[in-house]
Amino acid sequence: MSIFARVFHPKKTESQSLKEGLAAGSYKIPKHLAIIMDGNGRWAKKRHLPRVAGHKEGMETVKRVTKLANEAGIEVLTVYAFSTENWSRPSDEVSFLMKLPVTFFDTFVPELIEQNVRVETIGDIDKLPETTKQAVIDAKEKTAKNTGLILNFALNYGGQQEIVDAARQLAREVAAGDRLVEQIDQESIAERLTTGFLGEKANPDLIVRTSGEERLSNFLPYQAAYSELYFTDVFWPDFGEGDFEAALAAYTKRDRRFGNVKA
Ligand code: IPE
Ligand code: IPE
Ligand code: MG
Repeated sequence: MSIFARVFHPKKTESQSLKEGLAAGSYKIPKHLAIIMDGNGRWAKKRHLPRVAGHKEGMETVKRVTKLANEAGIEVLTVYAFSTENWSRPSDEVSFLMKLPVTFFDTFVPELIEQNVRVETIGDIDKLPETTKQAVIDAKEKTAKNTGLILNFALNYGGQQEIVDAARQLAREVAAGDRLVEQIDQESIAERLTTGFLGEKANPDLIVRTSGEERLSNFLPYQAAYSELYFTDVFWPDFGEGDFEAALAAYTKRDRRFGNVKA
């Protein structure tokens, strides 16, 4: 750890709360935090409730974590809400999940505006039911001028398809004579991924997955090349301030080398 880092990230004490830690500058703050919100179904099952009860409760966690991320000074919070593979779930569950963004934005957009949060999405929202798509578009429009945290929903998102789409776009440009094969590089691919609008913040610094599963499940495979990974057994509906603090504390201790050696 450099002297600079030591001054600004003094060792946290065991009993430190998130607020105290933030005020003391105890954490290294990821610019882009991405979360694979998992375990809603198991949370519900444990309580003998239908799976959708877990999704409803998980929505409250998104609200809570958005506030925490904003307070921590995180710039982009990407949350994996629905994967391209999730369409294969029972139709009742899929239709409930499709209604969630409508409820979420109905109740939460005024607060997002108050918190200066801007809503964005990655993934193919054109394939969502019309009311869902409209709720998402409205939320984006209503928060478009906000300059704080970007709350980025991965909705009908599939990382491998995103790479296929970028490859097709580039192939078309080459076929049309607008691009040389040699002009296909990391930058031109990154720009054509759905995270392209995030520019230098497209790659998550930290990816958190809840519920004990330790895989990416087609989430940001290109962008995760150098992401730090953090796994916790907590089910997403139970993920609270203490768990958020633990993730930040773990990230603070990571030594990101990017293939280099320590100075
Ligand atoms: C995550 O919780 C939410 C979505 C994938 C939409 P799950 O629904 O995957 O919950 P588990 O993994 O079955 O417990
Ligand atoms: C990943 O969780 C997708 C979301 C969190 C939206 P899944 O629960 O769908 O992933 P698998 O099936 O366990 O890999
Ligand atoms: Mg799951």
